[in-house]
Amino acid sequence: MTHARQHHIQVVAHRGASEAAPEHTLAAYRTAIEDGADALECDVRLTADGHLVCVHDRRVNRTSNGRGAVSALELADLAALDFGSRHSRAPWRGRDEEPDWVVRPEDPEDTSVLTLERLLELVSDAGRRVELAIETKHPTRWAGQVEERLLALLKRFGLDAPPAPTESPVRVMSFSARSLHRVRAASPTLPTVYLMQFVSPRLRDGRLPAGVRIAGPSIRIVRGHPGYVERLKAAGHQVHVWTVNDPEDVALCADLGVDAIITNRPGPVLRQLGR
Ligand code: G3P
Ligand code: CA
Repeated sequence: MTHARQHHIQVVAHRGASEAAPEHTLAAYRTAIEDGADALECDVRLTADGHLVCVHDRRVNRTSNGRGAVSALELADLAALDFGSRHSRAPWRGRDEEPDWVVRPEDPEDTSVLTLERLLELVSDAGRRVELAIETKHPTRWAGQVEERLLALLKRFGLDAPPAPTESPVRVMSFSARSLHRVRAASPTLPTVYLMQFVSPRLRDGRLPAGVRIAGPSIRIVRGHPGYVERLKAAGHQVHVWTVNDPEDVALCADLGVDAIITNRPGPVLRQLGR
C-alpha cells in the first residue's frame, strides 16, 4: 500500500518540467510552476566572465545549437545560442528523434540560456512558495568561486542566510562534499543536500558528510539497497531521491516515505500522488 496521501512528498521539477519542454529553459520552469511543482531543480556552472548559468553538461553541444565548454564561453556567447533547438532534448530520448515537446516555446527568451539570476526572479514572481534546489556542477575546478558567486547572488535576493534551514526556500546540492562544506562555512543555515550515485562503504549505515542534513540518493540506490532510506531517516536525515520518472518508482518512494521526489515530469507525478 502506498503512503502517498499519508505524508507530504515534495515534488521537484528536475531541470524544470524537462519532459515537456527543453531542459533548463524558462519554458521548462514556467511549465513546472504551472503544473504545481513544489520546487525547481537546476544545475549551475560559471561562464568565462563569471556568470552563473543553468546548464547541466560541461559543454553546450547537447542542449543548444552551439559548441564549446560553458567555462570557455562568455554570457554574450551563450545568449546568442538557442537552447530549444533540435539538439536540446532530454537525454533519455534518441538523439535522432525530432523534438516532441508538449510545450512549444514561442518567445526567444523562453529557450535562450537561463541565468540563475533570471530563474530566481521567476521564482520570486511565482505568486506562491516555490523552492529552488541548486546543484553546483564541478565546483572543484573553480576552487570556491561557484559557491562564492552563488552566495553573493542569493544575498541580493535575501536568500543567503535563512533564520533556520527548515525555513529556507533555497537549498544547495552537490556530489561534492567539499562544495557543500564551503556553502555551510559561509552560510550555516542554508540547507545542503549530498547527492549520491553510489553509497560508499563508510556511509552505508546512513551517515552523511559532517553537517549535511539531507541525503540525495539516486533511484538506483533506493532500488538496489533495501533498508537504506530507512537508515537515513533513522539517522535524522531528509531523503530527496532523483530522478524518479517511472510510476513504479514514484510508488516505491511514497511507500518508503521519502521527503522529496526529483522528477522530469512533475505534473504526472503530482497526479499520481493525488495532488
Ligand atoms: O537532482 C540531482 C540530479 O540532478 C543529479 O544528477 O546528472 O541530473 O545533475 P544530474
Ligand atoms: Ca542536477
